[in-house]
Amino acid sequence: MRDTYANAQPMSAPWWSRALFYQVYPRSFYDSNGDGLGDLDGVTAKLDYLKALGVDAIWLNPVMVSPMADHGYDVADPRDVDPMFGGIEALDRLTDAAHAAGIKVTMDLVPNHTSSAHPWFQAALAAGPGSEERDRYIFRDGTGPGGVRPPNNWVSIFGGPAWTRVVEADGSPGQWYLHLFDAAQPDLNWDNPEVFDDLEKTLRFWLKRGIDGFRIDVAHGMAKPPGLPDMEVIKGEVLLADMDDDPRFNNDGVHDIHRQIRRVFNDYPDAVAIGEVWVYDNEQFARYVRPDELHLGFNFRLLRAKFDADDIRGAIANSMEAAELVDATPTWTLANHDVDREPTRYGDGAVGLARARAMMMAMLALPGAVFVYNGEELGLPNVELPDEALRDPVWERSGRTRRGRDAARVPVPWQGDGPPFGFSDNPDTWLPLPADWAALTVEKQINDPASMLSFYRTAIELRRDRSEFDGKSIEWLDSPSDTLAFRRSGGLVCVLNAGTRTIPLPVGEVLLASAELIDGKLPPDTAAWLV
Ligand code: GLC
Repeated sequence: MRDTYANAQPMSAPWWSRALFYQVYPRSFYDSNGDGLGDLDGVTAKLDYLKALGVDAIWLNPVMVSPMADHGYDVADPRDVDPMFGGIEALDRLTDAAHAAGIKVTMDLVPNHTSSAHPWFQAALAAGPGSEERDRYIFRDGTGPGGVRPPNNWVSIFGGPAWTRVVEADGSPGQWYLHLFDAAQPDLNWDNPEVFDDLEKTLRFWLKRGIDGFRIDVAHGMAKPPGLPDMEVIKGEVLLADMDDDPRFNNDGVHDIHRQIRRVFNDYPDAVAIGEVWVYDNEQFARYVRPDELHLGFNFRLLRAKFDADDIRGAIANSMEAAELVDATPTWTLANHDVDREPTRYGDGAVGLARARAMMMAMLALPGAVFVYNGEELGLPNVELPDEALRDPVWERSGRTRRGRDAARVPVPWQGDGPPFGFSDNPDTWLPLPADWAALTVEKQINDPASMLSFYRTAIELRRDRSEFDGKSIEWLDSPSDTLAFRRSGGLVCVLNAGTRTIPLPVGEVLLASAELIDGKLPPDTAAWLV
């Protein structure tokens, strides 16, 4: 069975099948109104930059109305834009301008939970145990004498218990509600049909308004295990990236939810649904991207790979295999707002940056859709923030034992010699920019042919324009140990040296290399493209 998209556009592949998506973390991209927080008019103001970079589509982290307990992943009104980001008119302005520039706009969608400020949750608190209002969430009586203990032993991904006890209208200690993330993010009860009906309204609302698709948050999460049994093992620390062996995720019921979502998308055949799927088993992952479920799923294997040839090769081979199982489009990503930035992950300093450049070349050589996180093209590293600057709810919920994800969310440096580097007119930005980013600004990099930014732009342009980047498959080539080499069916050869010795390159014309070759050979921590 083929997906209906193929019927709608018989001979051509859908736009997203080889798109370069650029993830904009809106509060950190560009501040147009001087409040120290990025906003949507700020994104519009920088569309020329994105166009010149060669992006096909933007993915906006959540901009819906929210108290911002988890920076927008706690949605209080899914069908409006928060005033902090400029309101819905600012989104319309961005969408119109982006479309005029030939750039698609996709948004984050958060179906697993709402904000505790959502009218549904407020109504659930007011209505009391056993009510229809409470049935939209996961309320349970506590255990132990007087219900003082939570209904089961689940812990929150952000630290602390996954249950919070409410006070009933008469002032008595009451039921508990489930929140796999922050207490301000109550999980919805996806067994209640009202929950999908409302999501359908939200999808149609934005799709009719011209949004080109959604990145679906925790897309492997919505269905909970029947009976909410205790977890067998509670690890000291439950990380987002470990959600693959967590029994609360990837339950069978989630696939019916994706089929329901897909039926809505089929009325908008140009729109794309991209799931955040922290599932590693290839067959399990492939189920999410069957023809009647998501169009794309984030495969996080490459992001999780160490800078090690076997690890990288395994990540690529498995991601390809998972997609091939159901004839889906592979996806590639090295970074996002939840993980450490690549130069830091790969060893910090000059080595980390060199490896990030090499990994970027491996990613862009592969067939399918790629996702670039804002600042990745500048080679931004993590920032060591002082305790008092931390804003991620993980910091407080973990009893200040886990610093959270702020280090990778620091605003983009645009220009000038000191913080906030043109990100805002206001020196008091929501996270501080470090003074040592003076050499990393867009202004400094844009005309420097050796900069990360120039290199990214060149690589993206080659990927877009050269026919060698066509073809849906890759073939592994022999290469020395601690290195990898593959040929794309369109003809491109990519070689990556993760070892410690300089290696000879295969015969061919070098299109691009992530560092200077030494006597025509590829040094360590470097990649090259050949045709
Ligand atoms: C996803 C988001 C993350 C958020 C969480 C809860 O993993 O990427 O930033 O905190 O879901 O919504």
